[in-house]
Amino acid sequence: MEELYAQHCQVCHGEKLEGGLGASLIDGEWRSDGSIRTLMDILRNGQPEFGMPGFAGQLSESEMRALVIYIQEREKYALEQPPKPEPGTKNVYSVAGERFRLEKVASGLATPWSVAFLPEGRFLVTEKLGGLRIIEANGKFGEPIKRTPAVFNKGQGGLLEVALHPDYAKNGWVYLAFSDADGDVSMTKIVRGKISGNNWVEQETIFEAPKKFYTNRGHHFGCRIAFDDKGYLFFSIGERGQQEQAQDTIRPNGKIHRIHDDGRIPSDNPFVENGFLTIWSYGNRNPQGLDFHPETGVLWESEHGPRGGDELNVIQRGANYGWPIVTYGMNYNGTPITSETSRPGMEQPIHYWTPSIAVCGIDFYEGDAFPSWKNRLLVGSLRQQELHLITLDGESVVRDEIILEDRGRVRDVASGPDGAIYLVLNSPDELARLVSQPKD
Ligand code: HEC
Repeated sequence: MEELYAQHCQVCHGEKLEGGLGASLIDGEWRSDGSIRTLMDILRNGQPEFGMPGFAGQLSESEMRALVIYIQEREKYALEQPPKPEPGTKNVYSVAGERFRLEKVASGLATPWSVAFLPEGRFLVTEKLGGLRIIEANGKFGEPIKRTPAVFNKGQGGLLEVALHPDYAKNGWVYLAFSDADGDVSMTKIVRGKISGNNWVEQETIFEAPKKFYTNRGHHFGCRIAFDDKGYLFFSIGERGQQEQAQDTIRPNGKIHRIHDDGRIPSDNPFVENGFLTIWSYGNRNPQGLDFHPETGVLWESEHGPRGGDELNVIQRGANYGWPIVTYGMNYNGTPITSETSRPGMEQPIHYWTPSIAVCGIDFYEGDAFPSWKNRLLVGSLRQQELHLITLDGESVVRDEIILEDRGRVRDVASGPDGAIYLVLNSPDELARLVSQPKD
């Protein structure tokens, strides 16, 4: 992409897109409306009256699409002003109408992935290598829980999600999602079990795909779990690096699934007649965040896209989210995937990120400690190391604010029972939290 830009655009728009003969493409100011559609139009047909040549015969539609993504990336980086700690402090921030301190809860974990809240202020945390640990309220922890399932710890695989049954206090069920190995191939699997002392006991398999779907690819396992209030369990499986299979409804990969909390398959799932029985939605690339809106009960999903194509979706029964036929992204190396961002019969994301933030866990804030953030959506990002706060009006995004940046890769975010906002961070590998501070 850099080469394509250097070859065709640089001479007029400058090496850093800062402008020259042509306008700056990164100052946030557009003579037009700056929309994707308009920019594509300008690239195709030029603006002869201003001296901008058209590229219709020279560049393909998908090359022009990739150039527009590139311009949007560079513009965002140029304009961004990350939140900074208050002067004289390292960890106190005033952002988005609230004031908080970033606190370390536990360190010394090995690539933690997910957190769940046990009674009495304790935590359950998964480590990608296979460890499931109880962390005490004071941040101390001992040996990993014994006899948890063996995991395929390669590439992005490992022990990923942990979630408690909504009635955990009564039944003690803990759910784990991980990459299960069969020789050198693997697939997402879900079990539930109980913790007795420091042992994993009474394990039951909740979801396991037939072995013919296992693959040697080491990425895109999905693995988020969310329970609704009717006893259904929703979970995600990424497309396992086999893009086109996300569209194939006889396969489990590239999908959101729905089962009962004990693993039974609901008879009203959308593909029970002619597809993979547990599928709820399809065309999902690598869903890394799942949460129900606390008021509407609607299922929201974040999806790790390619470069420039991270998505926030509202998940509907039987719907197709388009990957890899339509996307707002291009390949990581800057080569185009497609010029198409929409098609009839395929859902549009509610929001997408260009440049990609490597979107990860999401959670609606349900506490009282940050009153103005109630029911807003928290979104973690790996590559950009950002925590976003998204303000919604129904199902549209009104504002997307960065409330924390450069404090680690945010693997998971969770609204804690104490009102604090918990972060599972990678590099540094930590459990941390945002604790409300008095405003003066
Ligand atoms: C021969 C010089 C020249 C080349 C080559 C050129 N541009 Fe331009 N471009 C211009 C000029 C001049 C304008 C109008 C400047 C202004 O808006 O004041 C323009 C306008 C634009 C605009 C619209 C800006 C706005 O504010 O709406 C975009 C987007 C753009 N160019 C992108 C590109 C891209 C991408 C390439 C390479 C594929 C490219 N240009 C190649 C000269 C050039």
